[in-house]
Amino acid sequence: MADNKHDRDEVKRNGVVDITRRTFLHKSLLAGGAVATGSSVGFFQTLSSMEVANAAMGESFSFAWVSDTHLYPRELNQRFIDKATRAFSEVQAMGDKFDFMIFGGDLAQLGDPVEIELGAELLKEVTITKHFIPGEHDWYLDLGESWNKHFGETPWTFDHKGVRIIGVDSVGRAPDYWSARGMTDHERMGHMSALDGSQAGPWSGLGKEQREWLSSTLSDWPKDAPVIIFSHTPFWECYAPWNFWIRDWREVHEIIAPWQNVTNIHGHVHQPLYNEIGGMRSIGMLATSWPWPYAPEGVPEITKPMLRVDPGDHFDGVGWGNMNMSAEAHVDHQYMMWREQVFGYGRADSGTGDNVNQKLSPRIADRGWTGD
Ligand SMILES: [Fe+2]
Ligand SMILES: [Fe+2]
Repeated sequence: MADNKHDRDEVKRNGVVDITRRTFLHKSLLAGGAVATGSSVGFFQTLSSMEVANAAMGESFSFAWVSDTHLYPRELNQRFIDKATRAFSEVQAMGDKFDFMIFGGDLAQLGDPVEIELGAELLKEVTITKHFIPGEHDWYLDLGESWNKHFGETPWTFDHKGVRIIGVDSVGRAPDYWSARGMTDHERMGHMSALDGSQAGPWSGLGKEQREWLSSTLSDWPKDAPVIIFSHTPFWECYAPWNFWIRDWREVHEIIAPWQNVTNIHGHVHQPLYNEIGGMRSIGMLATSWPWPYAPEGVPEITKPMLRVDPGDHFDGVGWGNMNMSAEAHVDHQYMMWREQVFGYGRADSGTGDNVNQKLSPRIADRGWTGD
């Protein structure tokens, strides 16, 4: 209870939810004493935390992340359109600050070309450079045809102010579970749109061909220079039954292990999520549509779980990301959460008690994956 009071006071004092003292100490040790600070931007209330990288770099820059808008056709749902519109307007309003925007997938809900075209129309609000990676909801009606037509193919890479930036497709390389079952396109999409759909199995992964591409893309990059990898799903095993992972994360980590400063930024989980494995940090971003609950197996101890949302406010617990790569090689991320007011705080969210932290789920999804 005393700890809860401390956190409530901290919220009151700063107007933001900061990282816990335990996490702060952990980060400080990693950073050699760097100081973590809370902050708020304009009228936004934000959750903020600081992640510290080791490699030296040059010029600082900022970029925006928006993902998981889950748009339905306009006549079916206006609410998700309103929230996507708000995110794009806010990014545009801060456009001078950002070098580019990433759209991190799940633009559509059921992969309908009407939904993807609606998303493309709404995205016109943002006039800075945009880069795109697909989510599973964008892909499995027509296997990426509409997505690629509007937003181009993935993976891609470019270098920006001393950082190698990579976008991968972690959704479109699923093992084919539909052909032998004779599913229609809509049946396939229906299974992909369910969080724990048993038919789709371990659909998230990079696959052999893309892993080889990643390896060759990194091969000429200095081992101490920063790398940012954008993916729809996380580069570690958080919770396989919901595909909060990539099934080949072990193989991917073998590839990226020599690089000392890799930041993976991902969507799909619709919640703040943070982990570190070797030289890789992994940051889970908010959705604009809705927040998922935390996985029943828990989250890493260094994740600061989000607060439960106000069920009466559909703008609560969602938002977008304001990211900064500093000249000191720090990656800051701010959750631009549309939260009006914090009424209370519980230390342990669903499934996040300390006694279950860091316990990985049994790799049941591996049963359906044969190693492609
Ligand atoms: Fe999503
Ligand atoms: Fe997703």
